[in-house]
Amino acid sequence: MCGIVGYTGNENVTPILLNGLKKLEYRGYDSAGIAVINEGKLELVKSSGMISALCEKVENRPAMKGTTGIGHTRWATHGAPTDQNAHPHMSNDGRFAIVHNGIIENYVDLREELIQCGFTFLSETDTEVIVHLLEMYYKGNFRAAVMKVASRLEGSYGLGCICSDHPDTVIAVKEASPLIIGVGAGETFFASDVTALVSYTKNVIYLDDGELCEMTPSGVSIYDFAGRRIEKPVSRVVWDIEAAEKGGYDHFMLKEIMEQPRALKTAIDHRIKDGRVVLDDISLTPDYLKTVNKIVILACGSAYYAGCAGKYTIEALTRVPVFAELASEFRYSNPIIDEKTLVIVISQSGETADTIAALKEAKSIGARTLAIVNVVASTIAKLADDVIYTRAGPEIAVATTKGYTTQVAVLYLFAVYMADILGKIDSAERMRLLSEIEKIPSMVQRAIDLNRHIPYLASKYYKNTSLFFIGRNTDYAACLEGSLKLKEISYIHSEAYAAGELKHGTITLIEPGRLVIALACCERLFDKMLSNIKEVKARGAKVLGVALEGNLRIFAETDDGISVPRFDPLFCSLAEVIPLQIFAYYVAKENGCDIDKPKNLAKSVTVE
Ligand code: F6R
Repeated sequence: MCGIVGYTGNENVTPILLNGLKKLEYRGYDSAGIAVINEGKLELVKSSGMISALCEKVENRPAMKGTTGIGHTRWATHGAPTDQNAHPHMSNDGRFAIVHNGIIENYVDLREELIQCGFTFLSETDTEVIVHLLEMYYKGNFRAAVMKVASRLEGSYGLGCICSDHPDTVIAVKEASPLIIGVGAGETFFASDVTALVSYTKNVIYLDDGELCEMTPSGVSIYDFAGRRIEKPVSRVVWDIEAAEKGGYDHFMLKEIMEQPRALKTAIDHRIKDGRVVLDDISLTPDYLKTVNKIVILACGSAYYAGCAGKYTIEALTRVPVFAELASEFRYSNPIIDEKTLVIVISQSGETADTIAALKEAKSIGARTLAIVNVVASTIAKLADDVIYTRAGPEIAVATTKGYTTQVAVLYLFAVYMADILGKIDSAERMRLLSEIEKIPSMVQRAIDLNRHIPYLASKYYKNTSLFFIGRNTDYAACLEGSLKLKEISYIHSEAYAAGELKHGTITLIEPGRLVIALACCERLFDKMLSNIKEVKARGAKVLGVALEGNLRIFAETDDGISVPRFDPLFCSLAEVIPLQIFAYYVAKENGCDIDKPKNLAKSVTVE
């Protein structure tokens, strides 16, 4: 949450900061600000609202000239999204400005101490203590002061600091919050996300926790918190800026939905070689996998639903029990796991605080951990014993789409990989399953092509204020994700229900005109689903049926239909989610919602 960016070089810094913030806006968008060193003096502009409000303020004031500065886009935690609480925060003497992503847990004590020392606070944020500490500890050596401040902070912080006495220097510090340094020719950058840097440079350094980076136009020096110099490798970002732009689509979400066939191909193709799953990236040995008697999947939100979808396939193929659990609940549940438990954590961003906490808990109890992550070198990717990258490319829309489907695809691959090692499938079955998995990208494209009428369905049903998704087994897993997609971007209440459960209470909510989206792709349970569809129809519900292509029985029973291409039931729920994503998108559009930046949300939830 929150996006931070900084620059020092020879160019006018203001457009660089505003550009960077636009790229980071998906991380938080309730207020924003920039600070620039202009002729030895700090200038600050902040605004509540989106980055566009900040840009307007900047345009309507005297030009902010300078070549060093920092910027921030906020997702409010401590204090309302007002101009005053927006970052950057400035020291009382006007010498320092800072931006911060994370939470300072001991800020109440620090604030008290600083007030006693005579500092004045202008905001309600936890962050403001940092800038006053900086003023307090500064004796002419900028880096030494930042280092001293870091030693006083508890919590998480990606921090960017500037000082008017050092107009060519930016200092960034990382502790449990992402921070990436961009190394250009005669210029250096920092940002909380590589998307803000990639149009300027593809050479990046991923800072680790407990590291400080001093940047000048001529280069960077990195130190640990003990002040020792560290050498770190410069990595190359493999994707282009176009990957993080809308490319002609109205919204990132629609672009990312349409990108799924390609993203899935990238996630799958290179991992199937000579009729086997090849997971070069992991060091789990066959001997270890043979000892595993339980798999626990930990994640939040859609990533958790990816785990729910993967559970069915892993259990079906390996016969090892799989428990998908919410990361936010797991750590407080006194979990029963040991070295024979394989813990799989799933996270698109790799920075979700609840998932990080659950991962740490699992490791501390002795479980072996495997992460399925999209963002390279993110906290979860580094913390877990092993990582499989989903390779979905940058996902900008707050509502995940390609992030989710690539997670599910990786779980399918893992299911076959483990079943093979455990000897649960013979080579003919393995080859058959893998050839099905290889078809996933084209099946997903077909799921898009088959459903060009979804905008029409959305225009028919967008006024519903409350609806149900029902399904059984893998259909139920798809219901969970379909319902979340709709809720988060269209603000329409919906519930995902295991179809057999409806009659145990919730059916009281079915009334004439209520929309029920019935998922019935799991053909072995088709007759049961048909009964459930009839039950809600008998009570006046309108039913939108989702079933395999050519299933005429369902379309005879329902008011409208969505088709899903036919392929192996073990892998079907992935393709089933695609039309649900598209439906959510067009319903949100009909309702005039801000699809890429839904209210109250942010990409990458770095607070517990
Ligand atoms: C929903 C959505 C969220 C995330 C959840 C976990 O569309 O995007 O529910 O899935 O916040 O995020 P990651 O995967 O980054 O850990």
